[in-house]
Amino acid sequence: KINGVEFAVADLSLAESGRHQIRLAEQEMPGLMATRREFGVAKPLKGARIAGSLHMTVQTAVLIETLVELGASVRWVSCNIFSTQDEAASAVVVGPHGTPDKPEGTPVFAWKGETLEEYWWCTDQLFRFEGGQGPTAILDDGGDATLLVHKGVEFEAAGAVPAPGENDPEEYRLVLRTLAESIAKDGQRFTRMAKEILGVTEETTNGVKRLYKLATDGELLFAGINVNDSVTKSKFDNKYGIRHSLIDGLNRGTDVMIAGKLAVICGYGDVGKGAAESLRGQGARVVVTEVDPICALQAAMEGLPVVDLNDVLADGDIFITTTGNFNIIMAGQMAKMKHNAIVGNVGHFDNEIDMAGLAKIPGIKKVEIKPQVHEWQFPDGHSLIVLSEGRLMNLGNATGHPSFVMSNSFTNQTIAQLELHTKPGEYGKEVYRLPKHLDEKVARLHLDALGVKLTKLTKEQADYIGVDVDGPYKLDHYRY
Ligand code: NAI
Repeated sequence: KINGVEFAVADLSLAESGRHQIRLAEQEMPGLMATRREFGVAKPLKGARIAGSLHMTVQTAVLIETLVELGASVRWVSCNIFSTQDEAASAVVVGPHGTPDKPEGTPVFAWKGETLEEYWWCTDQLFRFEGGQGPTAILDDGGDATLLVHKGVEFEAAGAVPAPGENDPEEYRLVLRTLAESIAKDGQRFTRMAKEILGVTEETTNGVKRLYKLATDGELLFAGINVNDSVTKSKFDNKYGIRHSLIDGLNRGTDVMIAGKLAVICGYGDVGKGAAESLRGQGARVVVTEVDPICALQAAMEGLPVVDLNDVLADGDIFITTTGNFNIIMAGQMAKMKHNAIVGNVGHFDNEIDMAGLAKIPGIKKVEIKPQVHEWQFPDGHSLIVLSEGRLMNLGNATGHPSFVMSNSFTNQTIAQLELHTKPGEYGKEVYRLPKHLDEKVARLHLDALGVKLTKLTKEQADYIGVDVDGPYKLDHYRY
């Protein structure tokens, strides 16, 4: 803690470089900057204490400083051990007007290359606001912060934290340990905290799935706003974001020539569609695997062969998982790949690729080519290149999606936080989506920057198709 600002980041002297990058990003984030202009004076988030767990990048810095400008008190961690941009984290701590000796910004607990143990320590810090207070809202990406609170409340009610099961993954063991330590010091901390939390705004597909599961099981402790399924989020960030950042990660990680190679995309949802376009744009021969007949048909109609993974193991040069599911590429399958095939994941969690199984292959050796790029040498002499240890490689090997598309996502996040804080009575213990007029508003805020000239409906035309001249222009079930 320096000058009253708590933090744990790599190096505050990186703040100046971070500030320059934030300044450039602001220009590319018109939605967030318009939101600052609209609400910066009224400060409608005054009194809000927002605990944010989302990749600590330059774009996230602009989100954090928007929430602060709207009046919120904020604490932040990254939702992935490799995704922090250290200069952005430092700049947020120092703040726009502070110096590394006298920081005046926002508490951040995040650095690139955290251990899993450090990751959960950081996540616990997220909830420790000044004066022993907890948050009034969570801003989550993947649901880890929400999970910690829910598990905390569950174990406090049970009076004990269970011992980890034999098959529990390392990560869950660390959740249990973090909670055991916390509950040993203060047995009702999470229960008290949960009562003050108005809700969570969730960024990504996997986190949203967790929220709906909690709601269906009757276990959701506060409101959830599903930001991912705003059209201006998932149909833009998941698709066009990955179209940009997937090849960025591949290039920075390996610099391998993509043209002409056989690229296998597992999953053809929003992220898979962007991934396929990204690689096809480089001239790769792209094939897809799918379980859903609708998405498989979409791929086929785009001219992409839909294949069984096992049939392309020996020929594929690049394998990318995008499913949000687990056990997509298993160790035995990786053993059959060609020499120096590249394997990477852009789905939220690291269990799409069987890294644990890979490490257990007798005689296998892991050689670090550089951070987040590893060569796995099989005893028969052939090797594989695995990016970011199976974690989100577009954030681990590159810097994630660019500012402009994240402005869409984060304007939705800001609006969702405004909804929770300013309309506390309107949201119960359910999962909600933002109304369509706000989705259209987010899109509208990004049109000028791209020189878009919208056609205006006449009153007669609007009446004819049964909408208002000013929107919403589609019924809720329209799929875009
Ligand atoms: P989605 O649900 O639209 O797509 C996933 C697709 O994978 C579905 O079509 C599903 O049928 C398919 N699938 C499931 N199991 C499969 C299997 N065994 N084999 C082949 N295909 C399978 O989800 P979306 O929005 O595309 O997100 C995918 C993942 O990417 C999620 O984990 C999400 O959280 C994450 N994500 C990552 C981003 C990044 O920057 N890396 C950005 C946005 C989302």
